[in-house]
Amino acid sequence: MQAITIDVGPPFENLSLIDRPVPTPARGEVVLKLKAASLNYRDLEMVSGTYSSRFPLPLVPLSDGVGEVVAVGDGVTRARLGDRVAGTFWQGWVAGAFEDCPQLGGSADGMLSEYVKLDEIGIVQVPAHLTDHEAATLPCAAVTAWQALVTDGLLKAGETVLIQGTGGVAVFALQFAAMFGARAIVISSSDAKLERATALGASATVNYVKTPDWHLAARELNGGRGVDHVIEVGGAETLLRSLEAIRLGGQVHLIGYVGGKLGMVNPMAILNRRAVLRGLPTGSRATFEAMNRAIAENRMRPVIDRVFPWRDFADALRYLGEGRHFGKIVLSF
Ligand SMILES: NC(=O)c1ccc[n+]([C@@H]2O[C@H](COP(=O)([O-])OP(=O)(O)OC[C@H]3O[C@@H](n4cnc5c(N)ncnc54)[C@H](OP(=O)(O)O)[C@@H]3O)[C@@H](O)[C@H]2O)c1
Repeated sequence: MQAITIDVGPPFENLSLIDRPVPTPARGEVVLKLKAASLNYRDLEMVSGTYSSRFPLPLVPLSDGVGEVVAVGDGVTRARLGDRVAGTFWQGWVAGAFEDCPQLGGSADGMLSEYVKLDEIGIVQVPAHLTDHEAATLPCAAVTAWQALVTDGLLKAGETVLIQGTGGVAVFALQFAAMFGARAIVISSSDAKLERATALGASATVNYVKTPDWHLAARELNGGRGVDHVIEVGGAETLLRSLEAIRLGGQVHLIGYVGGKLGMVNPMAILNRRAVLRGLPTGSRATFEAMNRAIAENRMRPVIDRVFPWRDFADALRYLGEGRHFGKIVLSF
């Protein structure tokens, strides 16, 4: 079988297509034949060597993938031959408070491989109505948005969610806000992307390039009252404005840092706003399963921007880096 690994060297030149034996499952393990995978911003960082943690190389990248179970070890109860399952981002975080454990495509080999062996603890069944491509978008971006808004944020109908951008995490957050009857205000650098956000259910939109004080615009759009939740992906560039956008006691779900990792946070901005500022480490398996039930019940479909053949991983990653996408970028096996 073939896989792609990241090795030492300059970004993109450090990728190799390699041959490895098809894995065989030990007790409690399953082997998946990959159908599809999807990209996250983190994968670009892994290949570029800018991710916040360093891991031993060579490494098979990607946390997100869906496959058919083609072999099961003794004692496996969570899957049967022929099932369609995804791996969980954190292979040992089952439920409740965060537990540090191997992460796919980080401290453990990931999904950019024709066959993948996983412990049955780290798999979930995917919603039956989704295509393989759609199901492959869920493990990181969707689970993070659900963990933020629903598991931890306790999102309620009628609340307002300010969503930064139109990438993987953001578009799932928009779809979940709509699912819950919440009001979504989406900010983006592109009017064309904002039109697509409106079609997906955004109640109001702001172009953050044309309106740099988007946090004030968001407050105005919410009748002068701050928003209840912010899906924060800009990091250093946006965090202070997000803290000014929320209502007293509102929540900032700190997920990403596409606008930089180093910034100054004024503690008084948090205190004065009685803000709940929460760092998100993706989500647990229980979050993934609860989200899947809701996606199935609501017949929700993830938004795919573009599909690449899996061996064109480098081209797909470059496309992600250009930032022209809306929603998710998928690799087909
Ligand atoms: N903590 C976690 O568990 C977790 C999980 C998933 C992702 N993340 C992080 O979350 C971030 C987004 O990940 P992703 O996979 O969704 O990335 P992505 O698909 O590449 O999307 C990035 C988005 O950032 C938006 N953006 C860029 N600069 C912005 C700014 N100044 N203000 C507001 N929005 C801005 C862009 O919006 P427009 O193109 O619309 O302008 C784009 O849609 C990354 O930093 C990633 O590492 C963290």
